[in-house]
Amino acid sequence: MPIDESLITREVLDNTLVKEIYPEIKTESEPRMGKVRSVYDVSPEELLLSSSDSLSSHDVVLLRQVFAKGENLDAISSHFFEQTKNIIPNHYIETLAPNMWRVQKAEPILVEMVFRQYITGSGWRSYESNKGPEQGSEFCGVQLRDGYRKNEKLDEIVFTPTAKGQVKDFDISEFAGLNPEEDDPKIDVDMIRNNYAAFGLRKPEDIDFLTEASFNLYRAIHTELESKGQLLADTKWEFGYLPDGRIALIDECVTPDSSRIWEDASYVFNPEENEFTIVQSDKQHFRDHVETMGLQTPDKKEELAAYWMPDKVLRDGVVKYANIRETITGTLPEITAIPKKEIIMDALSKVGYLK
Ligand SMILES: Nc1ncnc2c1ncn2[C@@H]1O[C@H](COP(=O)(O)OP(=O)(O)OP(=O)(O)O)[C@@H](O)[C@H]1O
Ligand SMILES: [Mg+2]
Repeated sequence: MPIDESLITREVLDNTLVKEIYPEIKTESEPRMGKVRSVYDVSPEELLLSSSDSLSSHDVVLLRQVFAKGENLDAISSHFFEQTKNIIPNHYIETLAPNMWRVQKAEPILVEMVFRQYITGSGWRSYESNKGPEQGSEFCGVQLRDGYRKNEKLDEIVFTPTAKGQVKDFDISEFAGLNPEEDDPKIDVDMIRNNYAAFGLRKPEDIDFLTEASFNLYRAIHTELESKGQLLADTKWEFGYLPDGRIALIDECVTPDSSRIWEDASYVFNPEENEFTIVQSDKQHFRDHVETMGLQTPDKKEELAAYWMPDKVLRDGVVKYANIRETITGTLPEITAIPKKEIIMDALSKVGYLK
């Protein structure tokens, strides 16, 4: 059953977790922050990973948070971790408190493993601007045939990797001449194999293992999503080496932040626009709003960081994230105005993770 929207009162909408470091947690080294998560080194082999309700869009963390977002992402990821642990191991151990996971520490592989089965977003923009519809075009080392329309299903799933980090983080000849500050530059499989150590891989053939495992993950999760009335248009995974040397899936798995998830029933061809209509169950809701406001360009980053997202847009996003969680996992977040941080600190104190 979808979330009862009348329960999302003003108080609930404001009961969010901003991304921050909790100094109360006992750690072995300085905690660090990603775009929406914080990471605590709690033992030589384990981390605590805290998912905030913060929202990043166009590489900027926004001022306002989305009620229960972190908790919804965690519920979806841990569901898929459980479903796919036979395909590849993952870092997840347990949920200690809402928004707080205990995970196995991994040495990250610096490749964003992006997979797509539908042509949209940056893939579509590149295809369209390179005359793909008329003559086909190449994207991240993958040759796409001509004749695709926007949002159309590709003949097969494609792997379109990017480097995790900025151009200047990688000392490789293929990046010569690129802007050193460029984020997540596009790469291809040969570049990864030829520079495996720069991407944090221990052996060149590990990229082949990872690609194969990812195709299997994609197929398994797409099949499950289809059975729940959703399509997996694209997604991004991260992997790393566990202390025992095995490669594992880390971070998150097919969440509405890391993926495009569309409603199957609404996916139909619209001849007037010459594109497929989509209804998104994911972060695109927020990205579209940012673009409507004209805040998506690199010169607007400061303005975007200070932007006060209207309540209506936030509320619609809360509903979208809660409902896609419910569709995938069968559970909804608890709608509460009890401060989230109190609940987390209480739970962590009981299991001995506080100073
Ligand atoms: N098991 C793990 N071991 C080591 N690092 C991990 C593990 N799981 C996740 N991480 C790292 O923790 C960080 C989590 O940060 P977060 O997801 O907020 O943002 P990000 O990865 O920097 O950005 P984005 O996910 O938007 O690309 C990432 O740097 C991720 O690589
Ligand atoms: Mg991440």
